[in-house]
This record gives sequence, structure tokens and C-alpha cells, in this order.
Amino acid sequence: MESNFFSQRRSVLARKMSPKSIPDKDLDKILAAGIRVPDHGALNPWKICVIKGEKLKLIDESIILSEFKKENPNATEVQLETESKRFQRASVILAVLSTPLEHPKIPTWEMTLSSGAVCMNLLSCAQSLGYAAQWLTEWYAYNSKMLDYLGGRANIDKISGFIYLGYKTEEPNERRRPDPEKVINYL
Ligand SMILES: Cc1cc2nc3c(=O)[nH]c(=O)nc-3n(C[C@H](O)[C@H](O)[C@H](O)COP(=O)(O)O)c2cc1C
Repeated sequence: MESNFFSQRRSVLARKMSPKSIPDKDLDKILAAGIRVPDHGALNPWKICVIKGEKLKLIDESIILSEFKKENPNATEVQLETESKRFQRASVILAVLSTPLEHPKIPTWEMTLSSGAVCMNLLSCAQSLGYAAQWLTEWYAYNSKMLDYLGGRANIDKISGFIYLGYKTEEPNERRRPDPEKVINYL
């Protein structure tokens, strides 16, 4: 089969990306394309928070590390070192929130799916421009202080993912892919 961008697309691990600055014009392109997703009823049941520059370090220290310490009082120095630099692996982080609303006909499930589509679109668009990108949740996507900091409503909104953006330092290896015969069924 002929190869194209989507048949070759691959994520780059956050820990392998370089956090050099991404030009605003590319970031704008990624965001503009990212929000062009299927969305039943055009409800826009999602939000994107752009996190870059000083804010990466600020969130690492004031939320990720401090919440980790609270939840893991016996953490080792190595663990604390890792948690103190999570966001700083990226040049920019696009935090995608699923923000469902009450609707008489459209199920919340479909709003959740649309928010996943935003994540995938942001990821693909960044990768199509040659950037390193990875969709991560890690433990802090489920942390209430993080959700609150990003403007999410407790017990309603959810963090669909953090799209880490940076530069490739090497081409990623291919990963194990599903066997089409096991996941695709022609009726
Ligand atoms: C919702 C979601 C959350 C994820 N969270 C993590 C994570 O916390 N840690 C991790 O190592 N990979 C996580 N992944 C997987 C990475 O995104 C991984 O890079 C991806 O599966 C690579 O696929 P690709 O090469 O087809 O882009 C997550 C994927 C999804 C869809």
C-alpha cells in the first residue's frame, strides 16, 4: 500500500524531545487545525489551555511536584527529580479538557469522543509539521488541583490529555502495531 503521512505518523516520547521554542506561527497553525473536529451539535464541549515558557516550570513546581509529595510522602530523590521536571520536557503543552454540557439529545459520551478528536488532531497536526509530539495523561491528569488550575469544573470536566510538543532529537523507532486481522472485521 502507498505510504502517506497517516500511515507513517509516529509519536515521540516526551523524555526524548527537545524543549526549544516553537514559533508562534506554527503553534497558531496547530491550534487552528486542532479545533477543526467533528462535534455533534457544534457544542464545542472541550477547551485547550496553552502552557509554555515560565508556566511550565511554575506548574511543575507548584502543582505536579507538590501534589506528588503530598501523595507520596516516602518518595525517593530520583522520583522527586522526575516529578520536578515533567512539563519542562516540552516546549509547549496543550492541555485538552473535556467540558461536557447538559443537552436534551446529545449524549455526554459523544462530547467526550469529540474531545479525544481534538487531542488526536492537535497531535497529528504538530507531527505533520515535523514536530515531536506525544499525548500523555500520566498521574497528574487525574489530580483535582491540576484540573482546577486549568479552569476545569470539579466532578464534571476531565483532562483528556496533555499534548506535549517539542523537537525531535532523533527519528522515533516504529512501535508494535495492531494486527489488522484482529481489529478489523469485514462484514
Ligand atoms: C488518552 C491517552 C493517554 C496516554 N497516556 C500515556 C501516559 O500517561 N504514559 C505513556 O507512556 N503513554 C501514554 N499514552 C500513549 C502515548 O500517547 C504513546 O506515545 C502513543 O501510544 C504512541 O502512538 P503513536 O506512535 O501511534 O502516535 C497515552 C495515549 C492516550 C490515547
